[in-house]
Parts: sequence; C-alpha cells; structure tokens
Amino acid sequence: MTVHFIGAGPGAADLITLRGRDLIARAPVCLYAGSLVPEALLVHCPSGARIINTAPLSLDEIMTEIRHAHQAGQDVARLHSGDLSVYSAMGEQLRRLRAEGIPYEICPGVPSFAAASAALGTELTLPGVAQSLVLTRTSGRASPMPDTETLENFAATGATLAIHLSVHVLEEVVARLLPLYGADCPLAVVWRASWPDQKIVRATLGTVLAASEGMRGRTALILVGRALAQEGFDESRLYAGDYDRRYRPVGTDPRFPEGTE
Ligand SMILES: C[S@@+](CC[C@H](N)C(=O)[O-])C[C@H]1O[C@@H](n2cnc3c(N)ncnc32)[C@H](O)[C@@H]1O
Repeated sequence: MTVHFIGAGPGAADLITLRGRDLIARAPVCLYAGSLVPEALLVHCPSGARIINTAPLSLDEIMTEIRHAHQAGQDVARLHSGDLSVYSAMGEQLRRLRAEGIPYEICPGVPSFAAASAALGTELTLPGVAQSLVLTRTSGRASPMPDTETLENFAATGATLAIHLSVHVLEEVVARLLPLYGADCPLAVVWRASWPDQKIVRATLGTVLAASEGMRGRTALILVGRALAQEGFDESRLYAGDYDRRYRPVGTDPRFPEGTE
C-alpha cells in the first residue's frame, strides 16, 4: 500500500501527467483537495473507488482516511492542485506518514505559475533582463511570512516575481513594489489559468489597480517584472551561430571535439 501524492495541475483536466492519471486509475481510494482540483479528473478513478473531497476535513480527519486505507492494504491517490512542491500542505502530511510508517510517493504536476506564463505567452527569464523567478506570497491568516522573505527583499534583485495567494491584497502588493520596480514595470494578473473561465489583466504597476477594478476571484497569480515586457533582451548565446558547444562544434579547434562526452 502506498499513498501517491499527485500534482493535479493548474485546472485544465488534461494538464495532468500520464503517470498521475494512471495512478488515479489504479487507486481504490482518492482524496482530493476540492477547492482547486478539477472534479473532471475524478473520471479516472476506478469504478467503486472511495472518493473524498478533503476541503472540509481537518488534517486529523484526512489521516484517519489514510490510516483506514493503510489497514485495508489499499493505495491512495492524494490529489493537490498544481505541483506539490509549493503551497500544497503536503509537508505536514508527509511528516505524519513518516511517523506512522505509511509509505508514500510523489508524482509532480504542472504548477500554476507555468500555466499562467503559458497563458500570457511569455518566458519569465529573459537574457540580460531577468534570470531568476521568485515563487512567493504575502502573509496569510494561516501562514505568516518569515521576516526576511519580504516582497521588498525579493524585488531588490530585479527578478521576476510570481506572487501567489495575494490577489485580494493587490493594492498592498502594488504599494510595496512600486518604489523598487517603478510605475512602468509590467505586471499581469492571471485568474484561473487554464480553466475555461481564465481571465488576464496586463498592465503596469502604475495602471493595474484601475485595469483590474471589478475583477473577482482569489485563484489568481500576480506576475511582476521587466521580463513581461518581452523586449529589450539579448538572444541566448546558446543558439548563436558562432557559439561552440558540445552538440554543435564550431571552428577548427572545437572545445568539445566530436565523440567526447
Ligand atoms: C494553495 S496555492 C496552490 C499552488 C499550487 N500548488 C501550484 O503549484 O501552483 C493556491 C494559489 O495558487 C495560485 N493558483 C493556483 N491555481 C491557479 C490557477 N489555475 N491560476 C492562477 N493562479 C493559481 C493562486 O495564487 C492560488 O491562490
């Protein structure tokens, strides 16, 4: 028996990995975080599967379900939105599973920042503009931010920021970032990336509050940074005609002669 933590992707039912889909199809028990995981994924559950929406359950109640499956020798498909490596509350479940000796495995998923970037048609790291992407959030009722992980500290690097769980405090985010990035810095808000009702506002730090007035919904990502302008950047040297590299040796004395590892 194994608990399979499965990244369910950002919302579109076909943005799950083949491995994730097959694990769901084999597990007699499916626990899914119903607030963001699309119900359309549940069609992959085998007939007769025990399917439970964990949105209204406490961690203790979730553990009770897992323990029952463990005692019955039944695999569990545990679905969380996006990928499990960020803001999934998987860590606390893994700690309890380790303490109880219940085996688990993790199957990655498409994170929401990747779906938002695809919806915008942008690359978030552009040569000479931004080469780092910070996945961050603002403090919430359940999770205060560590002291040094402020928007100001991250913004001081000029990196592209993907700010989760914060669209309800957009005004505060803008006020804190304006002095560092400037009013003309591009910003996009993507609501429910990849869902049928996806919405996008493209603006700047100076215009976004007016541009997004009346927009509703908390499932949104705020992306900020100069890379979003999609201009003023260098081409990657990797594909330059004169760039000598392992898979395309150039010149009479290539750095990686053919046949070398
Ligand atoms: C609890 S976190 C889950 C993050 C998830 N583990 C991931 O990989 O993206 C929920 C937050 O992620 C962001 N989010 C999740 N799905 C999204 C989507 N389809 N479009 C835009 N933002 C999304 C929003 O900021 C939302 O408040």
